[in-house]
Amino acid sequence: MPRPYEYYLEDILIDQPVLQMRIAELGQQISRDYAHTEGLLLICVLKGGILFLADLMRHLTIPHQIDFMAVSSYGAKARESSGAVRIEMDLSTDIAGRDLLIVEDIIDSGNTLTYIRRALEVRQPASIKICTLLSKSERREVDIHVDYIGFEIPNKFVFGYGLDLDEYYRNLPFVGIVRQGAFAEATND
Ligand code: IMP
Ligand code: MG
Repeated sequence: MPRPYEYYLEDILIDQPVLQMRIAELGQQISRDYAHTEGLLLICVLKGGILFLADLMRHLTIPHQIDFMAVSSYGAKARESSGAVRIEMDLSTDIAGRDLLIVEDIIDSGNTLTYIRRALEVRQPASIKICTLLSKSERREVDIHVDYIGFEIPNKFVFGYGLDLDEYYRNLPFVGIVRQGAFAEATND
């Protein structure tokens, strides 16, 4: 059993009110940008994206549908993403001709999103945009255009608000920084 989350917490990076305010802003911006689009489809990347999706969609004032996909990184040892990605669970929607907005928790190297974008592109959707709650831009290994970014964050391992520590603590309403040494092998999904 894990210890109480406080043990792993160095500091709160983004508290609940700030998170929620920014997500409301993103929701308004996306609603404006897609005001003339019919049938927007939000694609949530499991598992980290679920809290963000749930809060973001409550701020959308345009009709939309949701779907889910799960991917895994090979050799996902600790905090490093190997660059090789595999679809573990695919969409249930036919996305040909659809306008897609990918909803992610965090973009780090960018490898995962690059893979997902390519995998979706070949199915010929009308458009693909990317919305991520968090971005560690200084860690980017590939050039990827991100349309909506909630917060630029420093190169620290974070957890809470969808992001896990060994599959725990996804429920925390804030994003926290993991205390150095408190958790040797943080997962990478
Ligand atoms: P990328 O392929 O390097 O961009 O990695 C993206 C994935 O790594 C994200 O979807 C997260 O699941 C995971 N990840 C990267 N940084 C963190 C972090 O600080 N905390 C938790 N998960 C992370
Ligand atoms: Mg993720």
